[in-house]
Amino acid sequence: MSTATEPVPGTSDIWSPEVLDWCALEAKAREVFSLYGYSELRTPVFERTDVFVRSLGDETDVVKKEMYTFEDRGGRSLTLRPEGTAGVMRAMAASGLAEGDERRVFYMGPMFRGERPAAGRRRQFHQVGGEAVGRCAPAADVECIAMLMHYLEAIGVSGGKLLLNTRGVAEDREGVAVALRTHFESHVAGMCEDCRRRFTANVWRILDCKNPDCQEHILAAPHMVDLLGDSSRAFFKAVCQGLEKLGLAHEIAPRLVRGLDYYVHTVFEVTHHGLGAQDAIAGGGRYAITVPGSSHPIAGVGFAAGMERLLMARESLGIKTGAVAATDVYVASLGEAMVNDGVLLASTLRRQGIRVMAETTGRSIKAQMRTANKLGAGIVLLLGEQEKAKGVVTGKTMATGEQQEVPLTELASWVKARLPQG
Ligand code: HAM
Repeated sequence: MSTATEPVPGTSDIWSPEVLDWCALEAKAREVFSLYGYSELRTPVFERTDVFVRSLGDETDVVKKEMYTFEDRGGRSLTLRPEGTAGVMRAMAASGLAEGDERRVFYMGPMFRGERPAAGRRRQFHQVGGEAVGRCAPAADVECIAMLMHYLEAIGVSGGKLLLNTRGVAEDREGVAVALRTHFESHVAGMCEDCRRRFTANVWRILDCKNPDCQEHILAAPHMVDLLGDSSRAFFKAVCQGLEKLGLAHEIAPRLVRGLDYYVHTVFEVTHHGLGAQDAIAGGGRYAITVPGSSHPIAGVGFAAGMERLLMARESLGIKTGAVAATDVYVASLGEAMVNDGVLLASTLRRQGIRVMAETTGRSIKAQMRTANKLGAGIVLLLGEQEKAKGVVTGKTMATGEQQEVPLTELASWVKARLPQG
């Protein structure tokens, strides 16, 4: 096959029956999230670039290295969304959200990051996520995490590990930065080029570095919660207690800061053993985001799960939707002259809710039977001049080879009685 027909590396064509697995994830998201009062929001797949730069932070890997940014004809800088939260906040601001207004939305769809493709790391990937804005309270974080865990359970993804940490509030930031700089000062010369830049530009980002050479120093860094003020610690404690009350097991990950700058207080990730190096199936946290053009920050809590990774986790647990036959019924026409009658018959049966495909060229009956087999049709309806004259069709049940004449007036119920679910 010519490489020109392959999708761009890091992107995929998704064929059936895999599409059915995607539909299952989407349907469960709608079902579970609506139990928590969330409604669906669809935002554009591209936004003005500053929507992302301002919200995610200009020192983050996503903004610095991974965004697909282009100029439109008017010279405006636009970017394919690398994640969902920033666009959702822009939409909230555009809808006239006032400070303190509560709103809960969920979304699903493609996101774009120019990362090096690997197992579970795509350039076009898909997220399903939820955002609850308007309340800054530990119980809101607990409910958000509970909804994510409920969703994972509903789609059969058991065995996920919930990792939890806090980044505290804005007032804690400087103290944390000073403590981190003190820790990294004597090591930074031997760390990667990015970390050397982050040391002065945004020292927090060092904690998110994936470079193996930097890990030793990152693992020795002070625990975030120990560097925070009393109110941040109390908030975090209340989140942990709330999770315990709901019986949601979690592990404290003392250096988890997440790759985006908008987080305050709670941050979390869910990892899964069924994946390789890219084992985070979902991530999220509490945030305060000021979108360009808005006068006040929007406070909220949310998460997003990578749908490709959810499917990988399900596959590792042996969950996969089986192949479905392309059609239940094939209408075979005996001779070219009967093709239009066959097409009409198919059309009538479809109106009765039956999945039908019809011969369109009048090939040999042998060739038509081969096609019916390939499509997985359980029933073939043979239509020739003789049948037409008598007002019947010859119905053939493929599994048994049994054939009988069926009057057109009884055909729909005859077929339905023989369908797998019938
Ligand atoms: P994130 O951790 O960047 O958070 O992405 C969430 C999830 O998307 C990851 O845990 C992973 O499953 C999936 N993901 C990310 N990048 C890729 C990729 N290149 N290929 C495949 N899957 C990927 C966010 O995006 C935040 N907006 C989450 C959030 C919502 N925080 C608050 N509200």
